[in-house]
Amino acid sequence: MLELKNISVSFRSENQEKWFRTTRTQVLSDISFQLKKGDCLGILGESGSGKSTIGRVISGLLKPDSGQVFLDGVSIYDSREGRKMLQSRMSVVFQDYTTSANPRFRVRDILMEGISAWERKSGERLERCKESERLLNQVGLSGDFADRFPHELSGGQLQRVCIARAVASRPEIILLDEPISSLDAHTQVQIMDLLTELKKLLGLTYIFITHELTSVTYFCDQVLFLYQGTGVEHIAVSRIREAKHPYAVQLLSSVIELEGDKS
Ligand SMILES: Nc1ncnc2c1ncn2[C@@H]1O[C@H](COP(=O)(O)OP(=O)(O)OP(=O)(O)O)[C@@H](O)[C@H]1O
Ligand SMILES: [Mg+2]
Repeated sequence: MLELKNISVSFRSENQEKWFRTTRTQVLSDISFQLKKGDCLGILGESGSGKSTIGRVISGLLKPDSGQVFLDGVSIYDSREGRKMLQSRMSVVFQDYTTSANPRFRVRDILMEGISAWERKSGERLERCKESERLLNQVGLSGDFADRFPHELSGGQLQRVCIARAVASRPEIILLDEPISSLDAHTQVQIMDLLTELKKLLGLTYIFITHELTSVTYFCDQVLFLYQGTGVEHIAVSRIREAKHPYAVQLLSSVIELEGDKS
């Protein structure tokens, strides 16, 4: 369904030692993977490894220096149609729910962004109040949340609203960039369980960006280990202990040590 082929990205950086000559810093090098419909791919790496940059490339926001992104065989950066098709089939959920939801909007207006995206692409007119109530119920919130402002919600509740907005446009793929990283451990599990439920119910495909191995093993089918902008290992989560790259091995052994400490 989704394929990345040899994606490389660099950014301009000022090199002060060389008399302010502009050089380029390579952020992603030759990233390739394929994702089947219905799968959940975890992209796992430490801070600065390039995870959000991959997310921006996949979601059509950043054209790579080289390489291609294909959605069902159509290159998304080669034509306007490709980019449009991507927009109508993919939603994004970010870590920072406080900035991704406009603080001046009530929840019903936040949801309206997704609902009107669906209306535009389908030509259907929905009964908007009913639709927002349905969406809120789908993410485990009652309909009266529609009248609240973001500051009147807990972090977990606001992230649920952002997830409801993401599914409102009825996408096939959702890109989740650290959607649970700002939440406490208990709420993290609740949100992952909600996402798993929605995935089954709506037949979704996920790309789940994270720096935590435990959330990958809890939530994903496959994982791409990203180390300094390179995809160093791509493996099924069921076979994760067979990973060979030193970075993957080191991450895995730290979790196994923790598990050992418990007993
Ligand atoms: N627009 C930009 N211009 C210049 N450098 C950038 C830009 N965007 C990202 N970078 C650099 O690219 C590298 C990777 O950034 P990215 O945001 O992809 O990392 P990340 O893995 O998502 O990190 P985190 O876990 O902290 O969110 C960083 O060194 C960052 O400074
Ligand atoms: Mg990031």
